[in-house]
Amino acid sequence: MGTGPWEPMGPWEGEPRSLMLAPMAGVTDLPFRLLARECGASLAITEFTNSTALTREATTSWRRMETHAMEDPFIPQIFGGDLDDMVTAAGLLEPQAQIIDLNFGCPAPKVTRVCAGAALMGHPDLLLDIVKAVSEHVQIPVTAKMRLGTGQGPDTVLDLVERLPDAGAKRICIHGRTLRQRYAGVANWDTIAEAVQRSIVPVIANGDVVDAPSAAACLEQTAAAGLMIGRGAIGRPQVFGEIRVGLGWMDEADLPWVADDPNAWAAANDIERAFLTRRWCWSRYIELAEATTGLRPKWMQRHAVAFTKGLPGGRAIRAEMHNQPDAQAFAASVEVFLGGATAQ
Ligand SMILES: Cc1cc2nc3c(=O)[nH]c(=O)nc-3n(C[C@H](O)[C@H](O)[C@H](O)COP(=O)(O)O)c2cc1C
Repeated sequence: MGTGPWEPMGPWEGEPRSLMLAPMAGVTDLPFRLLARECGASLAITEFTNSTALTREATTSWRRMETHAMEDPFIPQIFGGDLDDMVTAAGLLEPQAQIIDLNFGCPAPKVTRVCAGAALMGHPDLLLDIVKAVSEHVQIPVTAKMRLGTGQGPDTVLDLVERLPDAGAKRICIHGRTLRQRYAGVANWDTIAEAVQRSIVPVIANGDVVDAPSAAACLEQTAAAGLMIGRGAIGRPQVFGEIRVGLGWMDEADLPWVADDPNAWAAANDIERAFLTRRWCWSRYIELAEATTGLRPKWMQRHAVAFTKGLPGGRAIRAEMHNQPDAQAFAASVEVFLGGATAQ
């Protein structure tokens, strides 16, 4: 047992553990990954990208793999059912990447139809061959993200966690659902706990962690080396900092949206604090986008919807997207909306 990033850990005794932003297609673009890190995420992974498309130099696929000197580590995630394409794509990414993550969890039919993503949970030998071939081809660590199994027949994850380290996987993230479940039901943390016991490499628990109480419950139950958060971070990258504060891993005063204006924070009530937080996150997203990829209207619109979700007046501001002349004007109108709401 140790405390390094590649060593498993014992039972959780309240100490800080890794909090990762889950890879999410259409959500975890470069500025959002950078924002999540500033909000307290230890790591962030790109959305999954088709390894075969990368080997064919498909421009849209390479765009999903964009990074910047500000991003360290850069962790691209690839998927595919063709071993040679997975190896080639990993090799192409290696010069820029610090870690390569392999996706064995995607339930989308267009992915599973080609025996990629979570479908590979039903073909453990092929899955292990892919991990082995990629690990042998690149010099950087290779990690794997998977589900419990396909949901047809017994779950394969417990067998896989015992064999994956030999194949070269340095860390394993488990989403506690089967392929068949997609996102239905409740994530099964018991099986993740069993996987943690059986694995000689760190296991990261994923599924249904949304705040400090659920983070504490998951760490207690699973003894995982860390947690990965997906849906709970959409429009709420602050969740990472909130968990750190809630679990006593950092002081509230050090949260960037508090440190930005401690007096305003001290004077604000709970609702005003929620607006202050969202406004800081939105402004920072825009700054990070301007510093890296430039403002991409599609990304910005998606995040604007998520950042304003549930807020009074949020619907109206979303309609604004179509009235604004350009991306800058739209970004500013969302900021004004979130700033104005603070004063309500
Ligand atoms: C919109 C969306 C896109 C996703 N895209 C990916 C992806 O590209 N790669 C991946 O491994 N998982 C993907 N996932 C799954 C998440 O990484 C995560 O495993 C899942 O949402 C469960 O975690 P949660 O309960 O914290 O959301 C996606 C999930 C969502 C909601």
